This record gives sequence, structure tokens and C-alpha cells, in this order.
Amino acid sequence: MKNSRRNFLKMSGMAGMGLAGMSVMGSKGKDDGNRFLKSHRQEFNMRGYAAPALDVVRIGVVGLGNRGSGTVRRLASVEGVEIRALCDVRPEMVDRSVQAISSFHSPDTYSDGPDDWKRMMERDDLDVIAIVTPWDIHAEQAVFAMEHGKHVYIELPAAQTMEECWQLVETSEKTRKHCMQVSRSAHRNDTAYILKMVRSGVFGDLIHAEGHYIHDLLMSHILNKEMFYSMWRLRENTGRQGNLYPAHGFVPIIQMMDINCGDKLEYMVSVSSRDFMMKDRIKELAESDSFFEEFAGKEMRGNINTSIIKTHKGRTIMLQHDVTTPRPGARFNLISGTEGVFAAGPDRLAKSHDGWVSQEELDALIKEYTPKLTQRFNEVRREGQRDPEARGYAQVDPLDWRFVDCMRNGLPLEMDVYDAATSTAIIPLTEWSVANRSNPVLIPDFTSGGWKTNKRGMDVDIKEGGTTRIL
Ligand SMILES: NC(=O)c1ccc[n+]([C@@H]2O[C@H](COP(=O)([O-])OP(=O)(O)OC[C@H]3O[C@@H](n4cnc5c(N)ncnc54)[C@H](O)[C@@H]3O)[C@@H](O)[C@H]2O)c1
Repeated sequence: MKNSRRNFLKMSGMAGMGLAGMSVMGSKGKDDGNRFLKSHRQEFNMRGYAAPALDVVRIGVVGLGNRGSGTVRRLASVEGVEIRALCDVRPEMVDRSVQAISSFHSPDTYSDGPDDWKRMMERDDLDVIAIVTPWDIHAEQAVFAMEHGKHVYIELPAAQTMEECWQLVETSEKTRKHCMQVSRSAHRNDTAYILKMVRSGVFGDLIHAEGHYIHDLLMSHILNKEMFYSMWRLRENTGRQGNLYPAHGFVPIIQMMDINCGDKLEYMVSVSSRDFMMKDRIKELAESDSFFEEFAGKEMRGNINTSIIKTHKGRTIMLQHDVTTPRPGARFNLISGTEGVFAAGPDRLAKSHDGWVSQEELDALIKEYTPKLTQRFNEVRREGQRDPEARGYAQVDPLDWRFVDCMRNGLPLEMDVYDAATSTAIIPLTEWSVANRSNPVLIPDFTSGGWKTNKRGMDVDIKEGGTTRIL
């Protein structure tokens, strides 16, 4: 990893302390939980911002590994998209993606070293840059893209440090370019119908929510030599303590609780277990494979991190992160209010102390509250698949489709830079709280007070648009 200074800031929990010349409010004592607050004058409110409609959405993609190769195929399958440029530091990855879409797209390619993405982003005939690289260069690439006039469709997490979260907000406001994080869990069938239930009052006033990223990736991914470019994911798990991947579990809750548009996050406490597995597994691997020697003996991220947030309206949110223990996966997990509760995996809904409603009753509620957004996406996907000439890329998900649909129709995007920064800021906030014996840490307001009057995102009733096809 190239940025040792940034890694130092991450590990010490000091990112955002003003070391990079930021204006930070509050005293600077060793354990100050207010060190991340920042006085920011909003240059332009990106909430609800609609960029001019585009007939053709001209896209460049950087990072063509596991996820990025799929991103190319998914976006290439949406009506109105032209994949014009592809970039990866590994030429073979570029070739693979060019081949995958060669019947319909003829992108220019960029693979001349680790900074060639800049040359791609400097072109003036691209509208959107999709960023699918390792975590530590996301924010740098997003800022550069926006400053060169491009909207950004960025993989999660959008940034790593608090300083970078603010850079994303400030650049998006200054350039009026979208910076949307690919938080696809907010558009899944279940989270979409639960969002519709929440907005329809099924659970009454919301009180509490839980979102997780619990997913056993230890041997299959993190310690798999073939999986990631330069073992970046193992490096990110080395010497850091906190919640490193909050968005999947948290972004659906941001939408359900109207965070940044009616409520805001106030403070958090975070605690991590110690590492019971990674260091030992690496030691075992290093005994027979010298490849792992550089990681042997290093302190690794503790297995599970648990964080609790209090919101301005007095609600609580619990977030957890664990990618190493043998457990079934979990993302959005629970929402509860004055009138009922929904719990995921297995999905259950209760309206009283007397127990969960029957499966038939739950199915009927799901049918009733499946929003137009989901219904329209399913129609569009069915129509695409019926076409005998269909491209066969069945992987387009509702987030990709709606992103392109909003760009083509000149509509505000479903999620904005404030959502991206809010969910991403959990990373440095948890790192600081864990490093300070779980002291509470105050959470900055990226909307600069806009949360009091901002309108909601996620138009699940799809009042406008929905006109884009899947090819
Ligand atoms: N939204 C989701 O559900 C989801 C799912 C999987 C992965 N992701 C995210 O996608 C991102 C990529 O993950 P991955 O599994 O594809 O990793 P990967 O290692 O397979 O791919 C990263 C790619 O970036 C390239 N790269 C690295 N540095 C570069 C540079 N300077 N210039 C150009 N290319 C460069 C690498 O060669 C590699 O091909 C991560 O941020 C991850 O969190 C999101």
C-alpha cells in the first residue's frame, strides 16, 4: 500500500485531528471525543440536486478486479450507457473486461502504471467515473474525478479517514458533481419493502435499528492469495481496530431513519473484541508458505466490532462488523418502533409481545408494501431477459439501473454525498473510540444543518423516471 502516512493516521485514530490543516472545533486534549466536529460552510446543497439530463451516459471504470469486472458488465447492460474507457493497473484485467463487452462497446484502455487513471479522468468526453479500486485510493480518485467534471459512482467505503469524508462533501458541493456510493443493500427487495413499511407508519415512531456486516471471509477471501490485488484486504485488516465496512448494514438504516433529512447522528461508542483467529491462522500459513511471512506476528483487527449510535431524535442504532468468524451472513438486521419490529435472517415481523406474525401474514404485508421502485425494476429486468437478442448480463441490480435512469432523466440520485460521507465516517469514528477505551465520540454533521429541512432521498414510489430499459 502506497500511503504509509494515511495508514499511520488510521491506526492511531488521529485522522481528522487537524494534522492536515483542517479547521477542527473543540479542544485538542488526548481523549477529546469532539475532535471530529468541523465548522463547514455549505457551498451548495447537493441534497435533491438534479444534474442536467443525459441522452447518453458516457462512463469510464477504474479497477477491473472481482467487483469491477462485474460493474463493467452490469453498467454496459443498461440502456443509454456507453462504456468509453477502462482502466486497471493490470493490463490483463483491462483485456478481460474489453472482451466481455466487445460486442456492444469499444472502450479506450488505460493501464500504463498506477497513475494512468488520471489520464482517463482528464478526458472531457466522460460523464461518470465508476471507482472500483482498493479502499485506500477511493477518495483520492473521487475528488480528482469530480474536479475534472465527472460524476462519481463509487464502491464502498467511499473513503477511509474523516479528512477524506469532508473532501468528498466539499468537492461535490463545489463542483456540483454527484458522488454516489454503490450501497446496493439499500435497494435490495427486503430493504426496499421495509423502507416503504417504515414510511407508511407500520412500525410507528422508530426507536432502534441494527445493521451488520457479518460474513465469514477469512480463508475464502482475506487469506486467499489469489483473491485481491496485492493482498489489499489483508493489509487493511492489519493493525487496525474498528468497523471497516459499515455501509452495507448502515445505509438502509440511514434511509429508514431519515438521517440527514429529519434526524442526524449525535455520538457513538465503539468496542472491539481482540483477535482470536487471524494472527494464529497467518502464523500457521507462514510456517509452510513464505508468502505470508510479511504478515506473521502482526496485530490484526479484532474479530468483532460493536458500535452504538445515538441520534438527535433520541433513537439508537447498533452496527457490527465481523468478517472472520464462522457465522451465516447478515447485513441490515432490525428496525423497531412504537408499533412493531422487523428482524432479518430469518425475516420476521411482530406487532406485539405475543410473537411474530404468521408467514402468510408476513407475505401479504410484503406484497402490499413492495414499492413501485422494486416492481418497476423487476418488470424492466423481465422485459430485458425476454429479448432473444438480450446481452445476457443478468447481474444488473436495482441500484445500477436507477442510477443510470436518474442520470438520463435529469433526476436527483437516490443517495448523495452526505449519505456516502455519513456511512463512511463510521470507520474513523470507531477507530478512535476503540483506541480510547470506547469513549464516546461526537459525529460531525456533513449537511451543515441542512438535515433540518432536507428532503428525503430514495424515491421508492418512483414518482419520476423509471423509463430506462435493461438490454
Ligand atoms: N458494493 C458491493 O457489494 C461490493 C462487493 C465487492 C467489492 N466491493 C468493493 O469493490 C472494491 C474492489 O474490490 P475487489 O474485490 O474488486 O478488489 P480487487 O483487488 O479484485 O480489484 C481491485 C482492482 O483495482 C486495480 N487497481 C489497484 N490499484 C490501481 C490503480 N492505481 N489504478 C488502476 N487500477 C488499480 C487492481 O489491479 C484490481 O484489479 C472495493 O472497494 C470493495 O470494497 C463492493
